[in-house]
Amino acid sequence: MQKIAVFTSGGDAPGMNACIRAVVRTAIYHEVEVVGIMRGYEGMINNDIITLNSLSVANIIQRGGTILKSSRSEEFRTQEGRVKAFNNIQKNGIEGIVCIGGNGTYTGAGIFYEEFGIPSIGVPGTIDNDLFGTDNTIGYDTALNTAMEAIDKIRDTADSHNRVFLVEVMGRDSGFIALAVGVAGGAEAILVPEDQTDEAKLFDIFTQNKVRKKSFSIVVVAEGEHGGAMEAAAKLKAKFPELDIRTTILGHIQRGGSPSARDRILSTRLGVSAVERLIAGGKNECVGLINNKVHFTSFKDAVEYRKPLPNYIYDMIEKLSV
Ligand code: F6P
Repeated sequence: MQKIAVFTSGGDAPGMNACIRAVVRTAIYHEVEVVGIMRGYEGMINNDIITLNSLSVANIIQRGGTILKSSRSEEFRTQEGRVKAFNNIQKNGIEGIVCIGGNGTYTGAGIFYEEFGIPSIGVPGTIDNDLFGTDNTIGYDTALNTAMEAIDKIRDTADSHNRVFLVEVMGRDSGFIALAVGVAGGAEAILVPEDQTDEAKLFDIFTQNKVRKKSFSIVVVAEGEHGGAMEAAAKLKAKFPELDIRTTILGHIQRGGSPSARDRILSTRLGVSAVERLIAGGKNECVGLINNKVHFTSFKDAVEYRKPLPNYIYDMIEKLSV
């Protein structure tokens, strides 16, 4: 393999730059030319492709966002868009691709391989951590720390005013961020889309709180929970009108910032492994770390299977909300 490309796609995640750096420098180390495709599949369709060298990725390991930019391409979902993309891949002499992103990115790369035989290795980059085939995704740890720091601040004001705060964290379809940050932020309850019974549990906790005379509370709500924090707050208020409730939606603040040490190390390890797998003939699969060991999973399985939530956390939260 003489020339490969790297791109980032979908929601950006802290650590993507560290991964790009690892991909570029590993390729150069193995004497493989490397180019960057700008804005994910959009850049592939529009031939927005840049040459990368060792210096292009200097001083980016600590930067959030992605120097290659990102997008969610509608055009790549069409056959016509993918034909344009393939023509540009051929024109640029690209023989393999490292794609950094989430579910949508993997789906696109899988279809692209089936249609045109272009080998790709995916690297899990999303703050949501909702990808099968890896314990953690790039950006998840940093997002957790950002959300935790925000919750710590909210705690101060919640305590001063004896208020209940419902804090909504990201996670379009899953509760990984909510569960982990709920533990780290000392939440009393956590609402996630995967659990249909959590509303009943919430009411139960606040009924008991009356007896326990708790003066303030933090409840973490995943974005993907039906209706989010706003709806949960309205329901809680209807049931317990005496509560002074506030809602905070953390939003995109969770996607930015300098990546944590854990994210930089994960990004680097996955980036190096992805390039070496591609050079060795790997295709149509993604890299991940499971129990601290590098694993490869087919795009098909990564997209099809759901990674289970760490359910022991529920149990802990219940015990600790006494
Ligand atoms: O996939 C990561 C994520 O941040 C989700 O948690 C969130 O639902 C979504 O992206 C937001 O996407 P956008 O930035 O396109 O609004």
